[in-house]
Amino acid sequence: MEPATRAAKVAPSILAADFANLAADVARVAGEAEWLHVDCMDGHYVPNLTIGPPVVAALRPHTDLFLDCHLMVDNPGRLLTAFAEAGADGITVHVELGDPRPLLDEIAALGVRRGLALEPETPYDAVEPYLESIDLLLVMSVHTGFGGQPFIPEVLDKVRAARKEIDARALAVEIEIDGGIKVDNAGRAVEAGVDILVSGTGIFGADDPAAAARAIRNASP
Ligand code: DX5
Ligand code: ZN
Repeated sequence: MEPATRAAKVAPSILAADFANLAADVARVAGEAEWLHVDCMDGHYVPNLTIGPPVVAALRPHTDLFLDCHLMVDNPGRLLTAFAEAGADGITVHVELGDPRPLLDEIAALGVRRGLALEPETPYDAVEPYLESIDLLLVMSVHTGFGGQPFIPEVLDKVRAARKEIDARALAVEIEIDGGIKVDNAGRAVEAGVDILVSGTGIFGADDPAAAARAIRNASP
């Protein structure tokens, strides 16, 4: 497939939204978003502490958007059922925690889409063995923990490697990029093979979040 014909999905990261007005902030971007990205951090895997299943459950009646839950926690196995029951559509776990197969199997058994993430320093080879067992590959373009960090362009080499392998094997795995995505680099990411663009501060930090989400999608080559 030619990169120019691939329409990217936009996934605003609610980490950058106003937590006291979450439903209202989601409503502002809903018309320009395909997914919502939900960053769950436990204060152990990363130093930051954010949100978990109760917030997903509270948000669920307010939106039909795909809730893409990114777990940055030491022990995701303890939370999978709670996220699924809260209404998560996708759950992503990190490959750095060790063999993800038991977690991926459990996510599938819960009827939720399986995601696998890798940190900027983790080589592509670490996720390659699991491509047949996932629905989503999340390539981190910043170090997990905080929004608003600068994009690390070197990770696009991993996107290219994954795109090549996924296409060669005709797998149904989507590639998502997360961290520092703005209008000025979204096009490069899609050109490298990204299907889903996560953006937090690039969208909710803008004066007009819906216009920013649209601009990020339209920045695709
Ligand atoms: C970082 C999170 C990202 C973050 C992205 O640990 O996984 O999803 O919300 O925020 P921006 O787009 O501001 O870099
Ligand atoms: Zn994330």
